[in-house]
Amino acid sequence: MVPHFKLLPPFRRLLIVLFIFPLLALSSEPSSISGQQLLGSSFGIPGLNATFTHVIIGGGTAGLVLANRLSAFPENRVAVIEAGSFYELSNGNQSQIPRFVWNGAGVGFLDVNPLVDWNFATTQQPGINNISIHYARGRALGGCSARNHMVYHRATKGAYAKWAEEVLDETYRWENFRKYLDKSITFHEADMSKRPSNTTPSFDPAGQTAKSGPVSVAYSNFVLSFSSWLMAALHEVGLKPIPGFLGGELVGTSWYTRTVDRKTQTRESSETAYLRPVLQRTNLVVYQLTMATKVLFDGKKNAVGVECSCFGKTFYLNATREVILSAGALQSPQLLMISGIGPRSMLERFGIQVLVDSPGVGQGMPEHPVISVTRRVNLIASTVLNTPAKNEAAIRDYLNNATGPLTSTGGDIVGWEKVPRRLISNATAAFLDTFPSDWPDLEFLTGSTYPGTPPDNSDYAAISVAMVATASRGSVTISSASALDPPVIDLGLLADPIDQDIAIAAVKRARELFATSALSPILIDEESVPGPNITTDAQILAFIRSSARTVSHVSCTCKMGKKGDNMAVVDSKGRVFGTGRLRVLDASAMPFLVPGHPMATVYGVAEMIVEDIIQENKEW
Ligand SMILES: Cc1cc2nc3c(=O)[nH]c(=O)nc-3n(C[C@H](O)[C@H](O)[C@H](O)COP(=O)(O)OP(=O)(O)OC[C@H]3O[C@@H](n4cnc5c(N)ncnc54)[C@H](O)[C@@H]3O)c2cc1C
Ligand SMILES: *[C@@H]1O[C@H](CO)[C@@H](O)[C@H](O)[C@H]1NC(C)=O
Ligand SMILES: *[C@@H]1O[C@H](CO)[C@@H](O)[C@H](O)[C@H]1NC(C)=O
Ligand SMILES: *[C@@H]1O[C@H](CO)[C@@H](O)[C@H](O)[C@H]1NC(C)=O
Ligand SMILES: *[C@@H]1O[C@H](CO)[C@@H](O)[C@H](O)[C@H]1NC(C)=O
Ligand SMILES: *[C@@H]1O[C@H](CO)[C@@H](O)[C@H](O)[C@H]1NC(C)=O
Ligand SMILES: *[C@@H]1O[C@H](CO)[C@@H](O)[C@H](O)[C@H]1NC(C)=O
Ligand SMILES: *[C@@H]1O[C@H](CO)[C@@H](O)[C@H](O)[C@H]1NC(C)=O
Repeated sequence: MVPHFKLLPPFRRLLIVLFIFPLLALSSEPSSISGQQLLGSSFGIPGLNATFTHVIIGGGTAGLVLANRLSAFPENRVAVIEAGSFYELSNGNQSQIPRFVWNGAGVGFLDVNPLVDWNFATTQQPGINNISIHYARGRALGGCSARNHMVYHRATKGAYAKWAEEVLDETYRWENFRKYLDKSITFHEADMSKRPSNTTPSFDPAGQTAKSGPVSVAYSNFVLSFSSWLMAALHEVGLKPIPGFLGGELVGTSWYTRTVDRKTQTRESSETAYLRPVLQRTNLVVYQLTMATKVLFDGKKNAVGVECSCFGKTFYLNATREVILSAGALQSPQLLMISGIGPRSMLERFGIQVLVDSPGVGQGMPEHPVISVTRRVNLIASTVLNTPAKNEAAIRDYLNNATGPLTSTGGDIVGWEKVPRRLISNATAAFLDTFPSDWPDLEFLTGSTYPGTPPDNSDYAAISVAMVATASRGSVTISSASALDPPVIDLGLLADPIDQDIAIAAVKRARELFATSALSPILIDEESVPGPNITTDAQILAFIRSSARTVSHVSCTCKMGKKGDNMAVVDSKGRVFGTGRLRVLDASAMPFLVPGHPMATVYGVAEMIVEDIIQENKEW
């Protein structure tokens, strides 16, 4: 499927890289062909069993930030090992068009897309009636940034202060950390010639310091009309408008910004932003369609290389300076365990020689559950694309004008709040009060789909509520000593009674929003899902268990912390305790899951820690 885009010029070269490289990787005499000959450019391919200064495992959100920044120094030789490929080629406009983010990312196993996804299954989740769900994760250059819903916002000042305190590193305080968040993006104002006029975002002064980074952050050119109604309802129940979500504040309402190209409204990922502009560098090599299967150490527990597998062919990449694990929150801990770093008993169960007994590896994994309440409305919502004619018009708008429903992922606005204490128990309130004062409990999003198959051709709109302060924790473990087997993923979703209490409050809060006078003009009849006969807390909880989903935010599985904290796996610069020359740098290294969507923070931490790696280089 060749993408239908005149707007993506570097494709020809990418195509060559895609199709030639795997062949090259299987050749026994790789040095007989040079990258220059193949590509007519200086994209170097040294072949198998090569030596680099830095070997990065995972060309995902964080990994490609490192690849870009480290290869800016000609004295470095940088390798990226990535299991996937260029998603523009393997998955075409399905990966690039905002509206299509939903395709293949469902919780059912018929709604997966193995071309860009790992096809992971969770263990049976007691919190959601013992079902096992498909857990989407990007398998492509760009990783989850090539797969996600593109929501870009920062966490709060209080969250970053807590981070600084927990890991004893002042760099994480907002005042210090903000420059790294800024460094990764260019913020664009909304294009009001294309957006509906009653959806003008307020001027976000926080964006004005972020004007020269690689990732384009912009507003979509389409807003669901339900969103403007919900905005008024959020204000009616007490949420205050704030300028945006880039300034270290969340509690309040604003319009979303996304990682999207402002002009074309195509996805921006770490691949488009950090890799494509530097593909010509001869000191950067991307081993795509290649699995990293083990980190190799010398006798002093220094990481010295990585074992790789490409279509069954095993080879080795040596690292003279560092190996950096950026394989994401599920596979960075998996690779650590397989390489001998993890809870002793688990490693021994699979016959893995213990290099470092690190009980925290894979443990304490948080996730954000999400629950929706749905009603029939008298404006266009779930039927926005329900006929071939509407789809054709949407494609025309998109390709000709970068406008229309395809430019939006669907959830246009957001509000964040501390849940009203009258809706939760004292124990739950006491738990939520342990979070910083600017850390919201609930996030409100708009939904324009009916859960499952709609009963008729009416328009349905949903208020979805995500829980961003949770007590439940899951884990990632292994089922064998091979990285080619999937990790064992237990989300622990809604396992803790505190989270069940918050979830019930979330449903009640969504109902309160639907009961506002702001929304009454657009509502038809009674609530559709869960329905008016679901009233008691027990009934609401049963509904939650049958319908709660996740926002795909697993993290913290190789968490950073103070030296001496038994459960901490890495220090504040990502260095793995008990080893040398090995870091973990991705969502798994977060000490806790920040409120809301983590991508902005993942980019920021990568920008920050890569400076430390560069500094350390100078000291060698
Ligand atoms: C469906 C979905 C929607 C989301 N929506 C949002 C959102 O709107 N906003 C937001 O902020 N966050 C969102 N997130 C979360 C966010 O995208 C992730 O937290 C973040 O991108 C993770 O970055 P990372 O660098 O830790 O890992 P990743 O970006 O996942 O990178 C890991 C990379 O390592 C590769 N890899 C793994 N194992 C190996 C191996 N053994 N060998 C070689 N390569 C390997 C993977 O293929 C991948 O490319 C979403 C996530 C998903 C899945
Ligand atoms: C790479 O090294 C391994 C182990 O030393 C060896 O078995 C293999 O043949 C080498 N491959 C190439 C392509 O040189
Ligand atoms: C990689 O390191 C190993 C172990 O030190 C060594 O035997 C091998 O020759 C090195 N490979 C290359 C390509 O330098
Ligand atoms: C889930 O599984 C557990 C253990 O097998 C069982 O006790 C429980 O009743 C199950 N719950 C549901 C809703 O099926
Ligand atoms: C996406 O690509 C397919 C296949 O090339 C094409 O048929 C379709 O029109 C494209 N859609 C858009 C919105 O560009
Ligand atoms: C799209 O652009 C064309 C001109 O290129 C214009 O005629 C048309 O009205 C525009 N459509 C929309 C929906 O903006
Ligand atoms: C909960 O806390 C409130 C306010 O502190 C108090 O008045 C009330 O008695 C408490 N309820 C219970 C059940 O402890
Ligand atoms: C609520 O009503 C729906 C539709 O009439 C029905 O399917 C469901 O079983 C009822 N639920 C309860 C808890 O009564």
